[in-house]
Amino acid sequence: MVKVNLKGAEMFFKGNGPDYSAAAAAHKTLSEGTGAGSDFRGWLTIPEIIKETELDRIVKAAELIRSRSKALIVIGIGGSYLGARGAIELLRPIPAEDDPQVFFAGNGLSADYLNDILAKLGDKDFDVNVISKSGTTLEPAVSFRIFRELLAKKYGKDADKHIFATTDKARGVLKGLANENGWESFIIPDDVGGRFSVLTAVGLLPMAVAGIDVRKVIDCAIEEMKALDVRSPENPTWQYAAARQHLYQNGFGVEILGAYEPSFRFMAEWWKQLYGESEGKDGIGIFPASVEFTADLHSMGQYIQEGPRMLFESIVRFTKPLSKYAIPFDDADADGLNYVAGRDLSEVGAVAADAVKEAHISGGVPNIEIDLDSRDEAGFAALVCFFEVACGISGYISGVNPFNQPGVEAYKKNMFRMLGKPGAK
Ligand code: PA5
Repeated sequence: MVKVNLKGAEMFFKGNGPDYSAAAAAHKTLSEGTGAGSDFRGWLTIPEIIKETELDRIVKAAELIRSRSKALIVIGIGGSYLGARGAIELLRPIPAEDDPQVFFAGNGLSADYLNDILAKLGDKDFDVNVISKSGTTLEPAVSFRIFRELLAKKYGKDADKHIFATTDKARGVLKGLANENGWESFIIPDDVGGRFSVLTAVGLLPMAVAGIDVRKVIDCAIEEMKALDVRSPENPTWQYAAARQHLYQNGFGVEILGAYEPSFRFMAEWWKQLYGESEGKDGIGIFPASVEFTADLHSMGQYIQEGPRMLFESIVRFTKPLSKYAIPFDDADADGLNYVAGRDLSEVGAVAADAVKEAHISGGVPNIEIDLDSRDEAGFAALVCFFEVACGISGYISGVNPFNQPGVEAYKKNMFRMLGKPGAK
C-alpha cells in the first residue's frame, strides 16, 4: 500500500491543519453514493467485476495479438489512452525482444506524428485497439478511419479480425460498427468515466499486449481497494486529500507531481487528467503540473526554489529499486568522482531526493511524499487505486462534482462548427 508522509508539509499547515472530519464526510459521500456524480463510481468495484467478466477474454485477445503481430496501434485520447500509456511506460519502458511495439495514435491531430508512426510501423504485422466510450471523439475517430483503411489494404477480408473495439456496451457509432463488422469488443461500463477507466479493458488490453501481468494488477487492485476503505486519518487517501485541500485553502494553488523515475512521465500525465478534470471547475481547483527529477531540477528547479510561493510538491518515491548499478572506481579520478565510487546509483539518487526535499521545503514549498515499494504490477495497482480514491475524496471535500467534465465540450463545439460538421452551431 502507498504510504503518505506529511512531515515536509506540516510546517506550512495553519490552525488545526488538514481537516480529517471533512475527509471522513467526503469518503462517506463517495462510498454511499450520496454526492454529485454518484452514477460514476463504478471504478471503486471494477477490479472485482472485471475479474469475473472480461479479464480472461482480455488476456486471450492479448495472447493472440502477441502471437501474430509485431505492433499494436492503440487509438484513443484522454482517459481512453493515458492510463495504458502510463502503465506501459512505467512497467515496460524498454520492450522485450518478443513484445509487440505499442503505438499510441488518435491522441491529437498531427499529420507528422501519424506519419512517424506509419514509418516506424513499416510492413510489420499489426492489430488495432480502438478505444472510445462515446465513439464520436474526432481525434480517435479520424485516426481509426486511417488505420482501418491500412488494415483493409494489408489483410483484405481478414482485416476485421485485426480490430478490437473498447467502447460502450450498447450505444454509439463505434459499438454499431463493431456489431456490424464482427469486431471483438470490450466494454467501458456506463458508471466508469474515461479518466477512471484504466483498470477496465481500456487499460488492460494494451497493457497485456505489452507483456504486463494484468491478472496480478487486478488481484493487487482488489486488495488495495479493500485496504483503502478504512475510515481513519491513517488512511493515506485521507492524508493526501485533506493535506492538498488544506494547502490549497492557504494559498498553494499549484501541485507539482514529481518522481525520480523517467518512466513515470506518463503516469504523471494520467494523474494530471485525473485531478485536473475532476477538480478544475466552478471557478476553483488545484492546478496539476508535473516534473521529472532529477532532470527538471536543471530546468524548473530555479522556479520551484525561488519563484512565487504558490506551489506544493507531491513526490512519488519507489523505495525498493528493481535493479542496481555501482558507480565505478577510477584510479586517476580525473573527474573527481571517487567520493561516490562503489555506491549504488539509486542510493545516490535517494540522497539527491532527500537533498531536494530539504532545499525545496526551506525555499517555501510544502512537500507531500508518496512512498511505495517497487515499480512493478503491485506498485502500479497501488498507485492507481490510491490516486483514484483520493481524487473522489478530495473533489468532494472541495465541493465539486468530481465525475463530470462539462468544460471539455467548449472547444469541440467551436471545432465542429469551424470544420463544417453537419448540424454543428
Ligand atoms: O475522461 C474523459 O472523460 C475524457 O478524457 C475522455 O476519456 C476522452 O475525451 C475520450 O472520450 P471517448 O472515450 O468518448 O472518445
